[in-house]
Amino acid sequence: MELILSIHKISAGLFLLTYLVKGVIIFSKNDPFKQKSFKLIKMPEMVISATFLITGLYLLFSIGEPPAYLYGKLLLVVLAIPLAVIGQKRSKPLFLWISILIIVYVFGASETGSLTFKKEKIEMLADDGSGENYELLNIGSHVYGENCLRCHGRNGDLERYGAKKLIESTLSPEKRRSIILEGKGNMPGFSKKLDQKELESLELFLDKYYSQ
Ligand code: HEC
Repeated sequence: MELILSIHKISAGLFLLTYLVKGVIIFSKNDPFKQKSFKLIKMPEMVISATFLITGLYLLFSIGEPPAYLYGKLLLVVLAIPLAVIGQKRSKPLFLWISILIIVYVFGASETGSLTFKKEKIEMLADDGSGENYELLNIGSHVYGENCLRCHGRNGDLERYGAKKLIESTLSPEKRRSIILEGKGNMPGFSKKLDQKELESLELFLDKYYSQ
């Protein structure tokens, strides 16, 4: 899954790059050069866009409960492609550049996981700030929001990418820690991403809000 995601991201970057190159070439007044360049790009472009679309669709269908913004993304990309084709065929730079803008926008939406570029955040749940572990729980909720929310959800009951419901988990603290650090199945490991304090805060947060 992580591999497919990496391939998808790389092909998305290359896809954008080929559009940018075309977006520049289209301004050329030298027609033979233009035709030759477009022809040269054609083959790599086909391979890149096919890889981009196939990995994207694969991810969309294997994700399980895909977030709504993914459909928005797909729709925009599907719109951008004919726009670019028309732009190139009729030599209308504007069309091509609008389609480039759409792709750039989709990039931003993908990175933030939202069509409005606002990262979904998880706020501290019920705590009035007087509890002794307030600060650690706050760090924990932040770590959860950054790293776990997208698959396990706000309430710890989402099963995206085949994730397990945290609220129903019966793992021992040791086993749970090893899954968080090493990963399992579609879940990546977080040993390189979290320091000791973050890990312990996260565990405290999970114990308080997502345990039976
Ligand atoms: C890319 C999606 C994804 C992300 C991000 C993710 N997980 Fe998971 N998680 C999974 C999947 C899938 C499983 C099921 C693994 C299996 O058993 O094959 C899982 C399983 C678990 C389990 C084991 C539950 C059980 O009872 O077996 C725990 C605990 C867990 N995740 C915690 C976390 C925490 C904490 C984070 C954030 C640091 C996190 N996960 C981030 C997908 C994810």
